[in-house]
Amino acid sequence: MSESNLVREQHEFWMRRAIQLAYQGQYSTRPNPNVGCVIVKDGQHVGEGFHPKAGQPHAEVFAMRDAGEAARGATAYVTLEPCAHYGRTPPCAKGLVEAGVAQVVVACPDPNPLVAGKGVQILRDAGIEVITGVCEAEAHQLNLGFLKAMATSMPHVRLKVASSLDGRTAMASGESKWITGELARQDVQHWRAISGAVITGIETVLADDCQLNVRQLDGIDDLSKIVQPQRIVLDRQGRLPLTAKMLEQPESVMVMGPFRQELADLGVVQFEIQPLAELLKILVQQHQIYDVMVEAGATLSTAFLQEQLVDEMISYVAPTLLGRSARAMFTADFNRMAEQLRFKLKDVTQLGDDIRLRLIPSQETL
Ligand SMILES: NC(=O)c1ccc[n+]([C@@H]2O[C@H](COP(=O)([O-])OP(=O)(O)OC[C@H]3O[C@@H](n4cnc5c(N)ncnc54)[C@H](OP(=O)(O)O)[C@@H]3O)[C@@H](O)[C@H]2O)c1
Repeated sequence: MSESNLVREQHEFWMRRAIQLAYQGQYSTRPNPNVGCVIVKDGQHVGEGFHPKAGQPHAEVFAMRDAGEAARGATAYVTLEPCAHYGRTPPCAKGLVEAGVAQVVVACPDPNPLVAGKGVQILRDAGIEVITGVCEAEAHQLNLGFLKAMATSMPHVRLKVASSLDGRTAMASGESKWITGELARQDVQHWRAISGAVITGIETVLADDCQLNVRQLDGIDDLSKIVQPQRIVLDRQGRLPLTAKMLEQPESVMVMGPFRQELADLGVVQFEIQPLAELLKILVQQHQIYDVMVEAGATLSTAFLQEQLVDEMISYVAPTLLGRSARAMFTADFNRMAEQLRFKLKDVTQLGDDIRLRLIPSQETL
C-alpha cells in the first residue's frame, strides 16, 4: 500500500470512531447537530468526546479536556467543521488553536452561515494543517436535517407508512391496530426519537387517539434524557378534541388550524392554515425543527408525496393481505405510467416477520 493510501486509511479509521461517538448524542442534542471528536498523537488515541446536549460543551471541548497536554502537536478528527462563533459556548476553532493541535481533519463542512468555512479559516490562519472531506458521506448521515435546514431552510422529511402486502394501511372503518409486529413498531420509536417533530393528520388522531411520543428506545433506560419530538396535528376545521391523549402533555403539541383559545390556554403552539411547504419552513426558521417525521393516514401522506416534500420514505411491509375495501396507502388517481412516483431503494431490513424499506424519491420518470 502506498504511503498516501495508508495515511488516508488512518484518517478514515479515526474519523469513523468520531462518527460512532457522535451517534451517542443522537437522541439528545437537538436542535444542535450530532458531533464527535477524536484526538490522536503519534498513532495513539489520546482523547475523545461528543456533543451530548444543546447548552453543553461541544465535542471538541470534551476531547481536548480528555487529551489535556497531549493535545499539543496532535491531530484532531472532527465530524463537522469546528464552530467559529460565540454561542452558548466559545468557538471550538479557537479552542483547538489554543490547545496547540498540529492538524485538524474534518468530515463535513458546516453550512450554518455563522460557521460556513470560517471555522476552517481560523485554523488555517493559525498555521494548522486542515484536511476536509474525510468520510464526508457517512458523517452527513448524522445530521441530515440540520445540514439540509442550514442550506435550504427546509427540514429533512421522513414519511413512515406501515402497510400490508396489498399496500393497505387501515381497514375501511379506520381500524389499523396492528398491521406490523412488535419489532417494526419498536423501530418506529427510533425514527421518532431522532425527529424534531412528528406530523399527523386530524383523521389519524380521531381514529387512533395516538400520542406519537417516544415510549421505548433500545439502549436507553431513562427516557427523560432524550429530547421528545413535538407532535403536530394538521386540523383545518378545529376538530382536535380537548380530551385527546396527546394533550396530556400540551407543551409538546402544535396544531395547524383555526385559532382556538382553549388550546392557547393549554400552551399549545398554533399555526395559521397554510400550504405544507410554508409550514415546514416555519418549523425550521421559528422552531429549530430540522427533522420531521410524517406519521399520517393516506390522505396527508399523499399530499406530502405529491407536493414533493418527502426526502425519505420508511415503509414497513407486513406479510398480510387486508383486501380491496381496506384503505390504500396512496390516494392519488394516476392514469398513465408516466405519472407514477418512483423511488430508489436505499436499504432493506427484516424486522421479525415484517420488512422495512428505506426509499428515496427518484426524480426519474419513465
Ligand atoms: N398504516 C399506517 O402507517 C398509518 C399511519 C397513520 C394513520 N393510519 C390510519 O390512517 C387512518 C386515517 O387516514 P386518513 O387518510 O383519513 O387521515 P390523515 O391523513 O391522518 O388525516 C387527513 C386529514 O388531515 C387534514 N389535513 C390538514 N392539512 C392537510 C393537507 N395539506 N393535506 C391533506 N390533509 C390535510 C385533513 O383534515 P381537515 O381538512 O379537517 O384539515 C384531512 O382530512 C386511520 O385509520 C389511521 O389509523 C395508518
